[in-house]
Amino acid sequence: MRVLITGASGLLGVNLALEAAKVHTVYGQIKALPLKGAPFTQLSGDLMEDGAVERMMETAQPEWVIHCAALADVDACEKQPELAEQLNTRLPGRIAQACKGKAGLVHISTDAVFDGTKPNCTEEDIPNPLGVYARSKLEGERVVLKNNPDAAVARINIFGWSLYGKRSLAEWFFYNLQAGLPVKGFTDVYFRTQLASDLADMLLNMLEQKLSGLYHVVGADCVSKYDFALEIARRLGAPESLVSPMKVQEFGLKAARSNNLCLDTGKLQRVLHRPVNQLSTGLDRFFEQYAQGYPHLLRSMVDNSPKNLNPYMHGGNDGN
Ligand SMILES: NC(=O)c1ccc[n+]([C@@H]2O[C@H](COP(=O)([O-])OP(=O)(O)OC[C@H]3O[C@@H](n4cnc5c(N)ncnc54)[C@H](OP(=O)(O)O)[C@@H]3O)[C@@H](O)[C@H]2O)c1
Repeated sequence: MRVLITGASGLLGVNLALEAAKVHTVYGQIKALPLKGAPFTQLSGDLMEDGAVERMMETAQPEWVIHCAALADVDACEKQPELAEQLNTRLPGRIAQACKGKAGLVHISTDAVFDGTKPNCTEEDIPNPLGVYARSKLEGERVVLKNNPDAAVARINIFGWSLYGKRSLAEWFFYNLQAGLPVKGFTDVYFRTQLASDLADMLLNMLEQKLSGLYHVVGADCVSKYDFALEIARRLGAPESLVSPMKVQEFGLKAARSNNLCLDTGKLQRVLHRPVNQLSTGLDRFFEQYAQGYPHLLRSMVDNSPKNLNPYMHGGNDGN
């Protein structure tokens, strides 16, 4: 199939494009950088520019589209609510319109649309977003489904390796613990995260099955961020004493975030007739990828100047 992936330089986009390119003809939309040696066709351009969505669709002529591009930095959304609205609400609406009747679409949304007061929320539960990011993503879901009822919306959470080694919480725990540095993990924030490369297969399966409507596409296991850090320490053979428990309020995050992101995935499992991905297999694969040089492969695709290669910096994007 001809698959168009937007935001192919992002944490999800790059892992998804690399997985999909093993089987499909992939077009990866990249805002600025061309990626060196990418095994897919790159379409560069800022999707906020007039006519950019239409030009991208015209060039790629996709049968399937997975829309990953977004402003996923939660604190940046608080600072720039207008940009958050443009990228997370209006842009998905335009993509949905452009795909209508022409290409299957999965639009990527977030588990953060809920306020965390009720665990195991289903697609029927009423969201209550706590900040600008989550509100703009929820509005994006609504615009996509209004403009294109055949589209699917996937509420996700991911970890994995990224181009600059600093987009996901797992990378931050991994590199710090590997260097023998202490980390703190929230004991009171729970999520059902999964490896981005594993999510890729699930998203492609949703397109194969022509799913439409809203789906919770998260992993199987509800864990705290503290337990997630401990799992990484154990697999690394690092002392568990390097991981300290912490309450989220003690950290003083700028933007409000939900404490319980453990969504129910029953609807997806019933429709796809398959279980969702387990955290232990995702973490095994995360470590296998490291052993096989996958993070280095990703970094070789981008400018490797030292300013871009600080693995100890922690991004503030969704999932962290
Ligand atoms: N990370 C998580 O755990 C998580 C959790 C829940 C939901 N999500 C959702 O998953 C999706 C992917 O997130 P991510 O973590 O992969 O985000 P990310 O790493 O920040 O990537 C975002 C992508 O969007 C691109 N982009 C931003 N503005 C653009 C524009 N004007 N034109 C074209 N492309 C633009 C970025 O390009 P540049 O790099 O060039 O700016 C980048 O490729 C998003 O919808 C996010 O809301 C993520």
